[in-house]
Amino acid sequence: MEVLLTQPFVAECLDCGHQFPFTLNTLACPACGSQWSEARYDYTTLGRILPSLLSKRSFDLWRYRELLPIYEYNPSFSMGEGGTPLVHAANLGMMLGVPKIYIKDERQGPTNSFKDRQAAVGVASLKEAGITEAVLASTGNVAISYSAYAARAGIKLWAFLTSLVPAEKMREVAIYGTQVVKVTATYDQAKKVAAEFAHQRNLCLERGPKTIPSVESMKTIAYEIVEQLTAITDPEQKPAPQQPTPWQVPDWYFQAVSGGLGPLGVLKGFHEWKRMGLTERIPGIASIQAEGCAPMVHAWHDHREVADPVRNPRTHIATLATGDPGRNYTLLYQRTQESGAIFESVTDEETFRTIHILAKMEGLSVEPAAAVAFAGLIKAVRLGLVKPDDTIVVNCTGHTMPVEKMILGEGWSRDVDIPSRALPDIPEEGLISAIRHITAERFPRIAIVDDIPEARRLLRRILQSQGDYSIYEASDGRQALELAARELPDLIILDLMMPEIDGFGVLDALKANPNTAHIPVVVVTAKELTPPEKERLRGQIQALMQKGEFLSDELVDEVRALVK
Ligand SMILES: Cc1ncc(COP(=O)(O)O)c(C=O)c1O
Ligand SMILES: [Zn+2]
Repeated sequence: MEVLLTQPFVAECLDCGHQFPFTLNTLACPACGSQWSEARYDYTTLGRILPSLLSKRSFDLWRYRELLPIYEYNPSFSMGEGGTPLVHAANLGMMLGVPKIYIKDERQGPTNSFKDRQAAVGVASLKEAGITEAVLASTGNVAISYSAYAARAGIKLWAFLTSLVPAEKMREVAIYGTQVVKVTATYDQAKKVAAEFAHQRNLCLERGPKTIPSVESMKTIAYEIVEQLTAITDPEQKPAPQQPTPWQVPDWYFQAVSGGLGPLGVLKGFHEWKRMGLTERIPGIASIQAEGCAPMVHAWHDHREVADPVRNPRTHIATLATGDPGRNYTLLYQRTQESGAIFESVTDEETFRTIHILAKMEGLSVEPAAAVAFAGLIKAVRLGLVKPDDTIVVNCTGHTMPVEKMILGEGWSRDVDIPSRALPDIPEEGLISAIRHITAERFPRIAIVDDIPEARRLLRRILQSQGDYSIYEASDGRQALELAARELPDLIILDLMMPEIDGFGVLDALKANPNTAHIPVVVVTAKELTPPEKERLRGQIQALMQKGEFLSDELVDEVRALVK
């Protein structure tokens, strides 16, 4: 075990400022009795030594161990938590007209959620305190993560889950050896039952933002984002130790929010990096809630510091069902006054639609709670809350497994039935006739005309991920006209701004040729059209879509209606 280099941290009361030594058993400030305190470190010293420490360490959350509330670093329960990739979402960015969208891919944690950070640091802290039994309430992911780490550390865990948590998740908790207690009530009520149980049995209770290791674990997301964005923006010149460095922060951090632990911890992380003198700015924090359980969003829009609890959450997204955020919201409200905040809600429907978009456009299978954050980003872009050149990081967590059956509906597979499967050698004709009905004989033929290769790739991907089409591409006006005359496609998707013959010219030529005049045209353009330009298109095209302003399924709906 490694005894850490710097001065140990202290707990500081959020109400009276009193500082006292942190232990998991100190539940209240010795001076005023408040249950709210936060860890403080020697930021001056750390700002000086951190860059050189980091340059020698592997990329997991323990690389920040001097900034975690652990006295002695003990890697024996580690499963590689933290250190998740920051992935550029090029297709989503192009679709939304906001190119710098990055995904903090927390799915790659040991149990696939960002709660692995909380469990790793939390269990390390329990272990250090010699605690062997603990209690928590959870909407699923916290219980899964804690159960995995508790199993490794030999800690007995009681998980109080609301009956809304999908059975698949409950079983995952149980398989790690945690005692699941299913509470048929809201999540807020389940939390109360868990607290009472812990109190009666004198067991340690995970208290979300009131538990110092939990908040501290979350801030490692912010630390990693700073390091990763810096490496992306400046791949050659890795920040050298000891010298003032251009560490990068995003403009916005997006996360789906239930109790608010994540954004509170992440915000603390960005503040600490600044306090250490390493960065200059604090990003805006975007907290996205499910519309049926959005107490923070309601309060924010009414400029209130205190959120009214939602007594009966109405959302299928059980993960985000904290109806009463209590002081967590108030802290988030107060602490984002200067740096900026977005609080928005999204419907379950928007969320499920976003799951499809992410899977089909970015190859990411995410759980509804994570899709809420992305649906919130789409909404924020449409509301103009996010600017096109902003750098955005979205927290992405979880797998779709428990919900795939809900969102895919019928008809998601095409079945091949080999008639003579008992025979060792299947006659070839049998195979051919079996696969014949997988697809239609002839697909609708679509020509994509755009001079930007990435734009053509995106349009092709949108169409091919949601239907069967034969796709032709042309990269300028002349090619487009040749292609149209030769292939006579069922539909043309046309860009307007192209060198030489632009979209208007193509349109005029198509209409002048009796062979191509009838082909429907959908214009997809980044151009802000002037009234005369709009007039020129009138009657000539079937639809006009502004690049960055439509979602993949909206384009597909348009195309389907036109090639029927
Ligand atoms: C995937 C996911 N997103 C978001 C949240 C919200 O967490 P919090 O508001 O506690 O940060 C949770 C909580 O379990 C979650 O599992
Ligand atoms: Zn106090």
